[in-house]
Amino acid sequence: MLQKVVRSTIIDAPIGRVWAVIRDFNGHDQWHSVVDASRIERGERSDQVGCVRNFNLKDGNHIREQLLTLDDRHYKSTYCIVEATVPLQRYVATVTLKPVTDGNRTFWHWESTFATPPGMERELTDMVAQGVYEAGFENLRKHLREGGDLRLPGSSRDSTLATMPRALPVASRRIVVKHYGGPEQMVLEDADCPAPGPGEVRIRQRAIGVNYIDVYLRRGWIPPMMAEGGTPGMEAAGSVLDWGEGAGSTMGFLPGDRVAYLWHVPGSYAQVRNVPADAVVHLPPTVEDETAAALLLKGLTADYLVHDLGQLDRPRPGGAPRVLVHAAAGGVGLLVCAWARKLGATVIGTVSSETKARLAREYGCQHVIVSDNYRFAEAVQKLGGADVLVDGLGEAARDENLAALARRGHWISLGNATGALAQVDTHALLAKSITFSRPVVFDYVATRAELERRAARLWAALADGTLRAPPVERHSLAGAAEAHARLERRATSGALVLLA
Ligand SMILES: NC(=O)c1ccc[n+]([C@@H]2O[C@H](COP(=O)([O-])OP(=O)(O)OC[C@H]3O[C@@H](n4cnc5c(N)ncnc54)[C@H](OP(=O)(O)O)[C@@H]3O)[C@@H](O)[C@H]2O)c1
Repeated sequence: MLQKVVRSTIIDAPIGRVWAVIRDFNGHDQWHSVVDASRIERGERSDQVGCVRNFNLKDGNHIREQLLTLDDRHYKSTYCIVEATVPLQRYVATVTLKPVTDGNRTFWHWESTFATPPGMERELTDMVAQGVYEAGFENLRKHLREGGDLRLPGSSRDSTLATMPRALPVASRRIVVKHYGGPEQMVLEDADCPAPGPGEVRIRQRAIGVNYIDVYLRRGWIPPMMAEGGTPGMEAAGSVLDWGEGAGSTMGFLPGDRVAYLWHVPGSYAQVRNVPADAVVHLPPTVEDETAAALLLKGLTADYLVHDLGQLDRPRPGGAPRVLVHAAAGGVGLLVCAWARKLGATVIGTVSSETKARLAREYGCQHVIVSDNYRFAEAVQKLGGADVLVDGLGEAARDENLAALARRGHWISLGNATGALAQVDTHALLAKSITFSRPVVFDYVATRAELERRAARLWAALADGTLRAPPVERHSLAGAAEAHARLERRATSGALVLLA
């Protein structure tokens, strides 16, 4: 008969920090008092499923265990004993972590099943439950309390906190665009993430935001930003693994901290990535990784659109401004609709289907124009014309945009989903004293202070109900091509996220 041992506890540290210690299949000798020495056989990596670790225990016993599964998304690993001087037979154990609701503590569940020689059931069950699991809980608490996970051998705590606790490459997978072209050009490859450089934080990414700019990069529309063979993606959320010189604790980061970033250098379609600490913000406990990946870049775009360029937070002589939002049911569109409405604007949106129209209305769009061929100017003029135009469509909507704008309207051209906007005729602008902006979100978060200020405003808007996160369509990292294909077919609404 199989014996079953189940133990669980709460650890007073964020889940990412606990996981960073536990997932290291070769690290138990650093924190578990029963393990004297640990070694991975055949020079394999300690996070390679199938690798075998060799334990010398302090009581003189010897155990070889094999890693069976390692799931960074669900913080779960399974392993089994393949050989041992202790008579544990068919031993299979699973470790699972879950975040406690407040986000800063961790629930740790450890369970196993095994057979024993007759008569040894009680002795071995007690040994596993108390000597391994319960002792392990206490040992790990002590290890984290003393900052053992932050120290390099032979260095003082303070100096190590300021530099990197580990400097090895970490196994990762990433999407590579083989050649500029269609979604099929994106393939998943194994590629180690190198040790973080000076000023960089290494992040184990869990959710990656998909943005329309990723499509432009893949097609080869912006070669200076991404060459063929490059990895697309401008943002992600996950947890801190480690950091390079000058980043880390001096900038407020610790291993396991939950973070998100947006950065003007593509490369986020990956499991593990180094990014400058200046581009990284902490996540509030209430914001899940998926929500952060769906919201950060798009939400900060909505932030500068409504506050900086639209100036919707300031009183206007003519009363409530009319804001025209194209792709109103898209990732950016829904957020702009909601925020503009909250600030008192009259919100007009264009979408290509009735289903999208319903969603846009739910997010605050009062007048929805359904058109899949970019004919909307007449309907907008019937409402008085657009004082602010949020245009992610580009070329196909150019003439209708000019016709839809009100006198002294402001045309914000932020994207080119239909094709690059050809030169804008200044005489056409002159006819109605139209102003024109061509902004990029990265210029609105160019300093750490500005990024933090805007991110704080975004999380606050989410918390007080000003904004609702858009619906999220999830794909695996390997499914990036399908995500792009759907985005380009206009088949999506809300935000798309890749799960690493
Ligand atoms: N400059 C910046 O700072 C910045 C930052 C973020 C995003 N953007 C831009 O904002 C726009 C929206 O980005 P997003 O990531 O939130 O994407 P999205 O709006 O979720 O998706 C694009 C939407 O554009 C509409 N569309 C119309 N014609 C299209 C066509 N021929 N091909 C594909 N889509 C078409 C579709 O909505 P319908 O079917 O309803 O028409 C589609 O769902 C993009 O232009 C993007 O480049 C700019």
